[in-house]
Amino acid sequence: MELFIVCILILSIASCNSWNVNGQSKELNVIQYGAKGDGKTDDTQAFMKAFKALCDGKNGNILLVPEGRSFFLRPTLNFTGPCYSKNINIKINGNLLAPNRNDWGKDCALYWIHFSQITGLTLDGSGVFNGNGEGWWDRVKGSGNCPRIPSAIQFDHCDGLQITGLTHINGPGPHIAVTDSNDVTISKIYINSPPNSHNTDGIDLTRTTRVNIHDFSINCADDCVAIKGGAQFVNISQITCGPGNHGISVGSLGGHGAEEFVHHLHVKNCTVNKAASGVKIKTWPGGKGYVSNIMFEDIQVYETNFPVNIDQHYMRNPEQPQALKISNVTFSNIHGTCVGEDAVVLDCANIGCHNINLNKINIVSINPKIPASTKCKNAHGKATNIISPKGSCVN
Ligand SMILES: *[C@@H]1O[C@H](CO)[C@@H](O)[C@H](O)[C@H]1NC(C)=O
Ligand SMILES: *[C@@H]1O[C@H](CO)[C@@H](O)[C@H](O)[C@H]1NC(C)=O
Ligand SMILES: *[C@@H]1O[C@H](CO)[C@@H](O)[C@H](O)[C@H]1NC(C)=O
Ligand SMILES: *[C@@H]1O[C@H](CO)[C@@H](O)[C@H](O)[C@H]1NC(C)=O
Repeated sequence: MELFIVCILILSIASCNSWNVNGQSKELNVIQYGAKGDGKTDDTQAFMKAFKALCDGKNGNILLVPEGRSFFLRPTLNFTGPCYSKNINIKINGNLLAPNRNDWGKDCALYWIHFSQITGLTLDGSGVFNGNGEGWWDRVKGSGNCPRIPSAIQFDHCDGLQITGLTHINGPGPHIAVTDSNDVTISKIYINSPPNSHNTDGIDLTRTTRVNIHDFSINCADDCVAIKGGAQFVNISQITCGPGNHGISVGSLGGHGAEEFVHHLHVKNCTVNKAASGVKIKTWPGGKGYVSNIMFEDIQVYETNFPVNIDQHYMRNPEQPQALKISNVTFSNIHGTCVGEDAVVLDCANIGCHNINLNKINIVSINPKIPASTKCKNAHGKATNIISPKGSCVN
């Protein structure tokens, strides 16, 4: 009888520990795979082993990076699927640390950490991705002989991606880049790098469909969120950008004559603080494709250089016979302050931007000697409820 009870006890403990009970529970810990987390030891191999176990799905679908430790990881750390489980959770409570610029190696890695082909990935926890990017920020020496400044973390073909809770600091280039993915949610994270960190975007989206970005603040030096070619059905709300970056931007699109599009973007209830631009669409002369069904509404801007901006002559490039077609763009309830006269600047290509709607614009200059103004070129549509700057040149 006693033996029988002991047996049952042992069996039940065993089954509690086996992750197959309900298919969801057991946690893998990077420490079990040899990671040290002392901030010096190279933990890359240990993370690769732990990820392989996670992805194979034999031991559980949660990978834990424990708190109170700092894990030194070299580029490029590849987390590559497809994985056995259709929902995988990587819970990062500790710090992840990238090498110094000089220690990135000669092969010009494009990413520090690369997630690809993982379906249903949730990346969460209270931890920090520290891209240690200072050495990349020098405009002249930063990239060295490399053609591209790397992204801190890159996701491609990661359908159902969710990122929440984490902190992303000091990226070498973009902090988070998502390409070729569907159904992505990024919420309640924190992105921070100093104002001199050239080329550090907050989030870049490329060829990505159905995206929700909401409820957090982004401090970096370049675009706060960049909505690039092939991004569609994107909602952005309750994001605070700045000080010191480029606000929320569509583009740049059509560089080197490329054919690109962005459509169905809805940016609502966001704040841009002390930035070079607020909400913006930027395209290169000579590009092909289109930008349409874009709505920017309830945007507060403070001390920003170009609060409302369409720039089809990006980087001051001259008009060319070909340009992206911009249509159905609404700027509604945009209010706050600009630094000089450039409150609303709509600089469209000769083919014109069509169905441009300005509604409830109220932007004043912080410099009483340089009042805010609206400037348009080839911008067609209508303006309603314009408070300041008075008048409108959309027609
Ligand atoms: C990660 O993948 C890239 C591209 O496939 C490869 O060049 C790099 O060597 C991989 N990194 C490691 C540590 O294996
Ligand atoms: C974006 O918001 C609209 C409502 O404003 C909603 O219908 C749509 O499903 C949202 N898109 C995503 C990807 O959540
Ligand atoms: C707008 O966003 C702020 C946070 O950025 C939030 O506190 C506020 O509730 C939001 N307003 C609406 C109407 O959603
Ligand atoms: C313009 O874009 C909005 C979304 O911003 C969409 O609801 C509307 O249907 C579009 N209008 C046309 C004529 O495509």
